[in-house]
Amino acid sequence: MTHDPQLNKHGELQHLLTIDGLPREIITSILDAAAPFTEVAEREVKKVPLLRGKSVFNLFFENSTRTRTTFEIAAKRLSADVINLNINTSSTTKGETLLDTVDNLAAMQADMFVVRHASSGAPHLIAQHLRNIGADHIRVVNAGDGRHAHPTQGLLDMYTIRHYKKDFANLTVAIVGDVLHSRVARSQIHALNILGVPEVRVVAPKTLLPNEVERMGVRVFNDMREGLRGVDVVMMLRLQNERMNGALLPSTQEYFKYYGLTPDKLDLAKPDAIVMHPGPMNRGVEIDSAVADGGQAVILPQVTFGIAVRMAVMSMLAGN
Ligand code: CP
Repeated sequence: MTHDPQLNKHGELQHLLTIDGLPREIITSILDAAAPFTEVAEREVKKVPLLRGKSVFNLFFENSTRTRTTFEIAAKRLSADVINLNINTSSTTKGETLLDTVDNLAAMQADMFVVRHASSGAPHLIAQHLRNIGADHIRVVNAGDGRHAHPTQGLLDMYTIRHYKKDFANLTVAIVGDVLHSRVARSQIHALNILGVPEVRVVAPKTLLPNEVERMGVRVFNDMREGLRGVDVVMMLRLQNERMNGALLPSTQEYFKYYGLTPDKLDLAKPDAIVMHPGPMNRGVEIDSAVADGGQAVILPQVTFGIAVRMAVMSMLAGN
């Protein structure tokens, strides 16, 4: 008997809410399942029938370019019907609660909700509510909640690392920037630890690190040059100004000087190191254009792999 709300009593994935606590086998099977989905994009008809007849609702209560669009593409490639609720023109603006909205969409025979929300825990709340109303056949995918988790971003990042580095066993990975406010960093750290990466580093000023971050299984570096020395993978993070209370940094210019990824700092990593970024990037703040557009960057392949990984997640949740 498991108490993880995202697994059913057989240990199968029912919702995807967080990477924290997911069995390694489930993560690996999602990555394995994503690989053949990358080939669907090369077909003349970019579709497979795995979600034919299913209705997938995209509920993005917070802005998104990559996640919303790639979920829509992924669902359409699986032949689902996709409904994008426009939150700005929905009855949310008239005061309808999140759970009343969910009840109404459930009454429209939804099969899956893809949820992004500024409040940590919103997708968990929806999954729990669906169980309470006897509608837990509707699957919930967390597309980013507050500063808590962004599991499909974490998974597509693992897919990208495996694609370029083949194996997780001997890697040193540095996550650089605003870890404190980043749901992406939390999902990356959980995934890297579960997959057995021997050294996960976080590199940031003290003001942008959570208290006792070491307890997440990471090595802490406040000096970026030290933190990048000899790494295989550099994962950059944006300053999440929208989640900051008060000034945590003197200025963005000073931040760039000490924590911006420039070619000379990247030279301290291994020569074949890859540079990742979940997007959106702020050029000249956390990353120099010469790196963002350079030969070691795999930032756009991350986006492309995101379609296949999201296809794999939705397909698994639908029981395939
Ligand atoms: N990486 C990411 O979540 O980007 P969006 O906010 O554009 O979806």
